Amino acid sequence: MLGVFPESHCKMRGCIHPICAVSTRDRRLATPDRMKFSALFATAALASVFAFNAHAQAAKPDLNKGSALFAAQCVACHAADGNSTTPANPKLAGQHPEYLLKQLQEFKSGKRENAIMSGFASAMSDEDMRNVAFWLASQKPKDGFATDKDLVRLGERIYRGGIANRQIAACAGCHSPNGAGIPAQYPRLAGQHAEYTATQMKAFRDHGNKGRDEKAGRGNSTQMAQIAAQMSDREIKAVADYIAGLR
Ligand code: HEC
Ligand code: HEC
Repeated sequence: MLGVFPESHCKMRGCIHPICAVSTRDRRLATPDRMKFSALFATAALASVFAFNAHAQAAKPDLNKGSALFAAQCVACHAADGNSTTPANPKLAGQHPEYLLKQLQEFKSGKRENAIMSGFASAMSDEDMRNVAFWLASQKPKDGFATDKDLVRLGERIYRGGIANRQIAACAGCHSPNGAGIPAQYPRLAGQHAEYTATQMKAFRDHGNKGRDEKAGRGNSTQMAQIAAQMSDREIKAVADYIAGLR
């Protein structure tokens, strides 16, 4: 059929002959489509360049450097393998690297206040922090033990079920039933020293709370502040003891 019409006829712009109109429209479409395709191709090419750059920036953490930095500056308080044996100093081994990074960055910025740690963190570059955080995450966490037979039952109830009439959510919901946490946002708690956990709960609770020691606060988590705000010292002690024995 097409052969009936000379090619030149069909190439005329705006030809209204049924067959030519179709082919003209097709031709009109063809150009933008080709452009769209090449634009798409260019975008994809560009995206892969950006992806490559982002990848290069977030280069693989250097665990050897992380280990060396930790050995030089941190072992005195957090122990050689990151499983501190001093109840006031947290165990760090096996913690999610993203959580550790967040803490180091916030010690540096002052969002999480602690005189000792802000000193160390301030001297670290982003790369140092990444290296140390990923090295710590690769270390095996050591188990702990609950020590208070009477309180631990209350602690277990709170951890697993929360406290309904005060709208305290179950810790297990965010930190997982066995305390392993949920990467990357929710830290591992299992086996942590009860003393450190209790101090943190009180610090979340007391941050910016007039009438209590305002300085002794931890103001880097709204979620935890809301939970801790509702808890008594006894409940905190109980849940911290239960957490120490979680594995
Ligand atoms: C002089 C003792 C001391 C030294 C040395 C020390 N820390 Fe700490 N670190 C602490 C204490 C105490 C805390 C708890 C701070 C708080 O109560 O907020 C802590 C907390 C942390 C936390 C937060 C853990 C959590 O579960 O939220 C990280 C991460 C950390 N230290 C990493 C390091 C690294 C990395 C180094 C070495 C560059 C280091 N620390 C050196 C005493 C120390
Ligand atoms: C809605 C989610 C959620 C619930 C429920 C929750 N937490 Fe947390 N918790 C978090 C988040 C998020 C963080 C990390 C805060 C940060 O980034 O500094 C955290 C941090 C903590 C820390 C600090 C850990 C460390 O190494 O310093 C402790 C201790 C803790 N939670 C205990 C508890 C206890 C006990 C309960 C139950 C009474 C509980 N959490 C319930 C979300 C939750």
